[in-house]
Amino acid sequence: DLGNTGDILDLAVYAVGGFVRDLLLGQENADVDVTVDGDGILFAETFAASHGCRVKSHEKFGTAVIVFPDGFKIDVASTRLEYYVSPGALPTVERSSLKMDLYRRDFTVNTLAISLNAPSFGKLIDYFGAYRDLQAKVIRVLHNLSFVEDPTRVFRAIRFEQRLGFKIAKHTEDLIKTAVKMDFLVKLGGRRLLSELVQILKEKEPINGICRMASLGLLRFIHPGLELTPELQGTLEEVRYVVSWFDLLYLERPYERWAVYFLALCERLTQEQFLDTCTRLAVSEHYRERLAEMRRQGDELVGPMERKLARGEQVENSEIYFTLRGLPVEILLYQMAKSGSSEVKRCISLYFTKLHGTRPLLKGEDLKQLGVKPGPLFREVLDVVLSARLNGKVSSKEDETALVR
Ligand code: CTP
Repeated sequence: DLGNTGDILDLAVYAVGGFVRDLLLGQENADVDVTVDGDGILFAETFAASHGCRVKSHEKFGTAVIVFPDGFKIDVASTRLEYYVSPGALPTVERSSLKMDLYRRDFTVNTLAISLNAPSFGKLIDYFGAYRDLQAKVIRVLHNLSFVEDPTRVFRAIRFEQRLGFKIAKHTEDLIKTAVKMDFLVKLGGRRLLSELVQILKEKEPINGICRMASLGLLRFIHPGLELTPELQGTLEEVRYVVSWFDLLYLERPYERWAVYFLALCERLTQEQFLDTCTRLAVSEHYRERLAEMRRQGDELVGPMERKLARGEQVENSEIYFTLRGLPVEILLYQMAKSGSSEVKRCISLYFTKLHGTRPLLKGEDLKQLGVKPGPLFREVLDVVLSARLNGKVSSKEDETALVR
């Protein structure tokens, strides 16, 4: 249908970039990127009008997003018209502009295009040896200034390498090393750096990406104190183990898996250095303070429990519950991963699997009937009942009623 709209408007339309790459690799990719030789916004509006979609356009960039009623999106870009004026550089005007458009991209594997117009539907356009590199499983830049033009590509190279199971080409790796040596990454804005880091941490196996960032000397651009020590590697492996365990529980408690890896990555940093890292990554002040506070609380709350267990003292279920209940899943999983004590791991796991969902059988109404007046006491009484229930001291509503009386 996209090609059809192109045919009607007499515009050449191509599927491009990551979508084509993943199509050829047989991998799923929900992001469809389309490039139109000419007015992409007109194209998007025409397509949307005949398909019941909405359009969000950016006149300045000649780009638009087609949004389907079910939320599915297609990104539409226009090949830059300025390239039409370079006379005779390439056989046809259309081709020359598409080629220039693709040439501006990061890696060869992202430069494939597929024609969507009816006469040439499905034709693969490969100007820069992308197909060869896909087969050879290589990430390669198109020109030597690629990382200077856009330093985020250093992180993208690592992400694609890990995700696709490819290898960064030797010359491309040398260019990364030069960019690192010349401190090009210092100029990278915090927001963009954060976005790239988060994307690496969101990959299926983020540890490989972290190791690659470390071996290429990238961690210092996030914070000079970040270093991949054997201890950190150990914690990261534990995070991997703990999050896959947690996911298998299907508790339907949403959490940000990448944040657990991020906390682990920052393990060695002092609180002050952690705050500096968040500032470097342009984390909002509010969120930065919250993260730091939760990180501190995690240590402050779990530490005493760990020491108590180490002394061989008993920790009751209610103590586990009331210690851990204020902490978000991310911090709990991080604490579980970083603790060397199997007892602490057992306590946190018990909290997730059993204690967290425990409630008293008595409801507010029951308490009122028992003469407890709404107010601060109400909460206290409920907590006493909950404690008894967590510790197995009461097992029925009658037991709980007797306790309140
Ligand atoms: N691109 C680039 N330089 C960047 C970011 C993007 O050249 N710093 C180009 C890439 O060639 C990419 C296209 O813009 O194919 C679209 O970017 P994006 O959607 O981020 O990349 P995808 O390849 O689709 O990656 P993903 O599969 O992660 O969505």
